[in-house]
Amino acid sequence: MQKVKSYQDKNKERYLEELFDLLRMPSISADSKYKKDVIQTAEFVKDSLIKAGADKVELCQTKGYPIVYGEKIIDPNLPTVCVYGHYDVQPPDPLELWESGPFEPVVKKTELHPDGAVFARGACDDKGQMYMHVKAFESMLATDSLPCNVKFMIEGEEEVGSDNLEPFLRENAEKLACDVILISDTGMIANDIPSICTGLRGLSYVEVEVTGPNRDLHSGLYGGGVANPINVLSKMIASLHDENGHITIPEFYDSVAVVSDEERKAMNEAPFSLDEYKKHLDIDAVDGEKGYTTLERTSIRPTLDVNGIWGGYIGEGAKTVLPSKAYAKISMRLVPKQSSEEITALFQKHFEAIAPDTVKVKVSPHHGGEPVVTPSDGIEYQAAAMAFKDTFGKDPIPQRGGGSIPIVALFEEVLNVKTILMGFGLDSDAIHSPNEHYGLFNYYKGIETIPYFYKHYADLKVK
Ligand code: BES
Ligand code: MN
Ligand code: MN
Repeated sequence: MQKVKSYQDKNKERYLEELFDLLRMPSISADSKYKKDVIQTAEFVKDSLIKAGADKVELCQTKGYPIVYGEKIIDPNLPTVCVYGHYDVQPPDPLELWESGPFEPVVKKTELHPDGAVFARGACDDKGQMYMHVKAFESMLATDSLPCNVKFMIEGEEEVGSDNLEPFLRENAEKLACDVILISDTGMIANDIPSICTGLRGLSYVEVEVTGPNRDLHSGLYGGGVANPINVLSKMIASLHDENGHITIPEFYDSVAVVSDEERKAMNEAPFSLDEYKKHLDIDAVDGEKGYTTLERTSIRPTLDVNGIWGGYIGEGAKTVLPSKAYAKISMRLVPKQSSEEITALFQKHFEAIAPDTVKVKVSPHHGGEPVVTPSDGIEYQAAAMAFKDTFGKDPIPQRGGGSIPIVALFEEVLNVKTILMGFGLDSDAIHSPNEHYGLFNYYKGIETIPYFYKHYADLKVK
């Protein structure tokens, strides 16, 4: 491995410059204004795979943005690792809260990244983490150290629900055949506390529309006599949690898998400081479901959150209006055995049931995704744990994550392969927020650790 490491050290600067080039491209999949940029980013990823030495590199067209595919088959009898990642990013707004342009990457030092971090949208989620794999692959190939076959599948619609990836998986199951899926699109506890993400929550996402009178009304002439849909929506939303932080939708918890006391105990032994957590977020108290710790609330328990709410007059000054409509976007994070389709249906039924006669409600489902738990007793976990031990000098801690990567459940269902989530981001890296960043330490450590995974995985698999 010394060969790989010295090759990587020699190319360090170039690795960062290339990442900068990738981060300059505004590949915002949610906003059709950026269509050209998203496609150009796919081209960039394609070229970078070709330059790194991959074969059969192509853009696989879908109904949406293309999936970048590439492979290196050194020996069909050896195991195959398939790397998944995404080249699309979240919209950067609110723009005014960025200290530097979201698509003008710069390196700045932070408290948790004393060696510097790259600030840009997508730096951590997922361009920086995805590109580590391209560079790790390049360094293995260049030094004749690739121990197994590799396939790459880098999509451009993860941030909008990966709708076109499922048909792609079904139609290309043979081409994508592999022994394990390797993903860096999650986090770890701290730069000196490596961890491996062993689960993701599912997602059910809906938009609701509440309609009162057929037009906006003068709030003096009609106020007091007609229900205000914003008042009604607020009340309905408030009723979705009880005083213990439980979600009140009937049957919502019925299928939630029970986590054993033993597992919960282990989970809570992970290093975590509530004081630090509150300090970082500048809050005086945490909140959540009674009977569970913050670590549990954000991983093994389902949640319901309003992501946005609007209606009425929000312009400058005051306008006295009783609006006709009110809207909200609501997401529910799901845990094992909950099904996003079922939960969406339960939400819809409940929301319609609690609506007073004074309004009409409409519930429109957005994307969903199923929760997953990735086993910590398989060889892919063992290989990842050994790799972390090699480069961090410490055994990593298994920890279930709270975010969602909807396609992971389908890798198992459609391709029948397990996934290993080897993420190098920190929760404080501000993904999806202004000033997203990714530590230089994390970027280079990832590039260094990935080849060890390949080596251990190939060894364990062949045994
Ligand atoms: N990479 C994240 C998910 C993630 C981040 C999982 C950190 C665990 C730790 C991914 O890009 C993401 O943002 N997913 C979305 C869901 C998607 C359907 C928009 C999410 O979790 O909100
Ligand atoms: Mn991501
Ligand atoms: Mn994301």
